[in-house]
Amino acid sequence: SENSGMKEIILKINKLQETFKQLNVHMDIDLPQIAVVGIQSSGKSSVLEKFVGRDFLPRGTGIVTRRPLILQLIHHNFEYAKFDHSEKKFTNFEEVRKEIEDETDRVTGKSKGISNLPIILKVFSPSVLNLTLIDLPGITKVPIGDQPSDIEHQIRSMIFEYIEKETCLILAVTPATIDLANSEALKIAREVDPKGKRTIGVITKLDLMDEGTNAIEILENKIFPLDRGYVGVINRSQKNIDARQDMKTAAEQEMKFFRSHSIYKKISNRMGTGYLQEVLNKQLTEHIIQSLPEMKKKMKKILNGIEEELKDFDVESNVKALNGILASIKRDFQNEMGGHGPLVMKEGDMDL
Ligand code: GDP
Ligand code: NA
Ligand code: MG
Repeated sequence: SENSGMKEIILKINKLQETFKQLNVHMDIDLPQIAVVGIQSSGKSSVLEKFVGRDFLPRGTGIVTRRPLILQLIHHNFEYAKFDHSEKKFTNFEEVRKEIEDETDRVTGKSKGISNLPIILKVFSPSVLNLTLIDLPGITKVPIGDQPSDIEHQIRSMIFEYIEKETCLILAVTPATIDLANSEALKIAREVDPKGKRTIGVITKLDLMDEGTNAIEILENKIFPLDRGYVGVINRSQKNIDARQDMKTAAEQEMKFFRSHSIYKKISNRMGTGYLQEVLNKQLTEHIIQSLPEMKKKMKKILNGIEEELKDFDVESNVKALNGILASIKRDFQNEMGGHGPLVMKEGDMDL
């Protein structure tokens, strides 16, 4: 299945990390961060929460996200969430959303002000890859309420702080209801990534385009080409969020839209949330492969250190065993370069 390759890789990486834990050695693979940029209400938070497979980010019209949210996904055998600012462990994701809202207000006040002080949330789950996602306030031009007059500048510099890092993948979110030439997301991404090497274009709200218009040329990467191209997605409408439509139903309706659309059906296998997850998995896999030589070096050093301390320890065979694990991980990666399962796995996927 599409999922199995990625599942194998995760199992092996986890095994490797467990081995190191037993040796009391810190050996996390440093996965890249993924940040979303775009104007207010373009669907940034909606896109991000799909990678967790949970409905927990504040969404809505207007400026909802007013502090950066650093979302650390951590692979774990049971699911819970924990903020850096409190000791409480959350298992109810409605409460997580409420806490994000309350914690935003605690720092910014009830006004529509923004703050660059991030909220750090760890989500532990059997169905995620260790990964950091960053939800950012939307780019805005016109101050509202008692927002400062330089709000646009404030938000921009906040966004740059995150996206200027070379290891940050940028999800540039543009709603299909505006002209791509005016996309603030693409403009800001281009400033830090002029060649579009680490930018993935995401087009939202394809369901809301005027009848008789479509975004096929954008989606086929013909208008403003990006190395990694564009993926069209359909998030839940506010009406469906209010009606508590579940994520599974939303995903089914999304694919139904693409498959039955007279224009989009020919590219429907490259559309939707599942495909966006595959694209991201591919980037992550490449990144892990690039990290392997460095890991191997570290491991050898550790094992040689152990040799000094324990003369009887059979370093040769242990190095061999670890090399074997590494080689098989690398083989799996290479076999999988063509297609990847979603970052979000189904329950039970991690069972051995
Ligand atoms: P953000 O401000 O960029 O984080 O955007 P949100 O994710 O909060 O979404 C803003 C609003 O747009 C919400 O009411 C969503 O329900 C709605 N929305 C987002 N994406 C889509 C989409 O693809 N289709 C429809 N119909 N509504 C969407
Ligand atoms: Na919003
Ligand atoms: Mg948001």
